[in-house]
Amino acid sequence: MNGTTTPVLRAAGITKTYRSRPSLAARVTRTDSRADLRALDGVDLELRRGEVLALVGESGSGKSTLAKVLVGSTSPSAGSLEHDGEPVPASRGKDASRRIQMVFQDPYSSLNPRISVASMLRELLLLHRVVPRSQVRAESVRLLNLVGLEEDALDAYPSQFSGGQRQRLAIARALAVRPDVLIADEPVSALDVSVQATILDLFARLQRDLGLSVLFIAHNLAVVQHLSQRVAVMYLGRIVEVAETGELFANPRHPYTRALVDSIPRMRAGSVNEEFVLEGEPPSPYDVPAGCRFNPRCPYAVDACRSVDPALETVAAGHLSACLRAADLPPFQSSPDPASSIDRADVREELLEELPEEPTHTRSTAP
Ligand SMILES: Nc1ncnc2c1ncn2[C@@H]1O[C@H](COP(=O)(O)OP(=O)(O)O)[C@@H](O)[C@H]1O
Ligand code: SF4
Ligand SMILES: [Mg+2]
Repeated sequence: MNGTTTPVLRAAGITKTYRSRPSLAARVTRTDSRADLRALDGVDLELRRGEVLALVGESGSGKSTLAKVLVGSTSPSAGSLEHDGEPVPASRGKDASRRIQMVFQDPYSSLNPRISVASMLRELLLLHRVVPRSQVRAESVRLLNLVGLEEDALDAYPSQFSGGQRQRLAIARALAVRPDVLIADEPVSALDVSVQATILDLFARLQRDLGLSVLFIAHNLAVVQHLSQRVAVMYLGRIVEVAETGELFANPRHPYTRALVDSIPRMRAGSVNEEFVLEGEPPSPYDVPAGCRFNPRCPYAVDACRSVDPALETVAAGHLSACLRAADLPPFQSSPDPASSIDRADVREELLEELPEEPTHTRSTAP
């Protein structure tokens, strides 16, 4: 199966339960004080070929756990995964692992400081037999250029790069093995806003030029507004809404998404790294509320919400919501103030006017 309508990645009913370690007191008294923490609780999600799909939700909602399950670094407790319409086996071979690559929030922790860029790329290109040995250098330069770095970066070490450049390097490393899916877990959350805009631009370019399918994780909606074609919203281990980006912003059909969209004007350009935090009792994955998991914080909750757990269902073409009242929510009023969300063109102009170029690596700090 490889039709154009087959999603490149499909997750169905993915659950991930962590068992906490017993406390010292419980170990001494041999009582079992462990509790199950359900980080993912039946996640359904499809990544379409060639799209940027944003995954957004508060800290602790399970975004990174889902990323790890998709990339195969942790196994789900239940549920199934398909890649290109084929089931993904519990233990992935080298090729299956190669095809889904991950980029992390902190590029430095994912790059070995003692290995030069040339060695890092050479090792990967040869291990995965991407090109013959004679073409390794040319391929390495091509990869660096693809992410906006120059050939001279080959001789440098990760510590010699700025934060934004390290993220470019991490992206080049992920691309080296020619994946068809890139999972980016908050790749700009730790960067300055001006650098953020350039990295967002890079993702948009890679999607356009390479036809890459990208799952882009962020903790607020402002970051992904201009990058993603679709948005999936996560709450307490579940996907609660999925829609095309414009539709999601104009007509959110889940009260949690409405709160996320409403929060955008507060995410001023200088504070886009700020995390969206909803008022009310923060949810705990140890104790998921009965009925709709959002009901204790929901301004639209009715009695049924405390007993019925809503499934993620189609509410309009291409628009899914897990809300019992999705069809009778009042019209959505608030529209984000466009001047206050991140406009990449504005930020880029600002960058050119006010900031020096991203500092380039300096040879003097070579280890
Ligand atoms: N290895 C782990 N062991 C136990 N609990 C974990 C582990 N990883 C994540 N969690 C818990 O799972 C929940 C989801 O975490 P995470 O996936 O990191 O969320 P997010 O990326 O959205 O912030 C959190 O409550 C977190 O504490
Ligand atoms: S089902 Fe009820 S509590 Fe849940 S989001 Fe919809 S209105 Fe709110
Ligand atoms: Mg995370």
